[in-house]
Amino acid sequence: MDIHKLIDTASALVANDKGLLAMDESNPTCNKRFAKLGIAETEQQRRAYREMIITTPGLSDSISGAILYDETIRQETLAGESFIRVLGDHGIIPGIKVDAHAKALAGHPGEEITEGLDGLRERLLEYLNMGAKFAKWRAVIAIGDSLPSRGCIEANAHALARYAALCQESGLVPIVEPEVIMDGSHSLERCARVTEEVLRTVFEQLYAQGVALEGMILKPNMVLPGLSCPEQPGLDEVADATANCLLRTVPAAVPGIAFLSGGQSAELASARLNAINIRWKSRSPWALTFSFARAIQQPALDIWRGDDANVKAAQKTLLQRTRCNRAARRGEYNAEMERTSA
Ligand code: 13P
Repeated sequence: MDIHKLIDTASALVANDKGLLAMDESNPTCNKRFAKLGIAETEQQRRAYREMIITTPGLSDSISGAILYDETIRQETLAGESFIRVLGDHGIIPGIKVDAHAKALAGHPGEEITEGLDGLRERLLEYLNMGAKFAKWRAVIAIGDSLPSRGCIEANAHALARYAALCQESGLVPIVEPEVIMDGSHSLERCARVTEEVLRTVFEQLYAQGVALEGMILKPNMVLPGLSCPEQPGLDEVADATANCLLRTVPAAVPGIAFLSGGQSAELASARLNAINIRWKSRSPWALTFSFARAIQQPALDIWRGDDANVKAAQKTLLQRTRCNRAARRGEYNAEMERTSA
């Protein structure tokens, strides 16, 4: 493990107020989003969609790294240039999702464990040789009446830590993503308690597996009430609950925290990231940035709809979202930006 290289990559991913673009939806997830808009669920359309994203002019002004899926990392533009090359030419660091999805956790109804450790060392080597510089693994923690269980939290934290150690051994920066999901009617306080327990367990396991915290990025959920909770707090309350939870649990050695969007609307995700930075940036030891998928892509996907004629308009919207999120990292986002076109 070359720790200096890992630190350089991790630092570059959170430098210059930029953030990450997650475009690593698995084929079933990407197809599900296409189906809602009547887009053909084919390899051809997935390729065209991802080409539209990565060829957006100006994307690298706000995006430091892009997370790809196994199918995407092997694809090329219509002109025959590999996606990895296109990203590299624009100064965007390529990353790869390496987990094999969440499956039902035996003995724990309603809970899931993320799989993919078998053969991971060999797969990481293949991606490294293709040009990937970092990787991502997502664990899912659901909140319910008696969930999450200790068994689910520990199993997922252990898998995340073993994945992270393998990444660093291979020379890839691990993005460690324990996602406490928003489904349910739980309160903000409940989400805060669960997220705190999850993060404490994840960092215990990262320590046990010898992961160098300086060479990783944490990708957590913001602390939010469940989607069907009747009480939805304001921006400052979310910002404070999120920052307090992270300050209690995430060591200062971690260079960056890149939030997932988790099903928030694009505008709300930007506004909340902005509030977090306005209130906490000067007091945080880590960069507080974004690694959004839906909150960057969805408005552009809604415009693209699988039609070449919509590429330019979709790219404009995609660029607009990335700019809003870069501004949010600086605490300079405002609703006016939503009305100004890119
Ligand atoms: P969302 O921003 O849509 O939650 O996706 C982030 C991600 O990478 C999920 O693994």
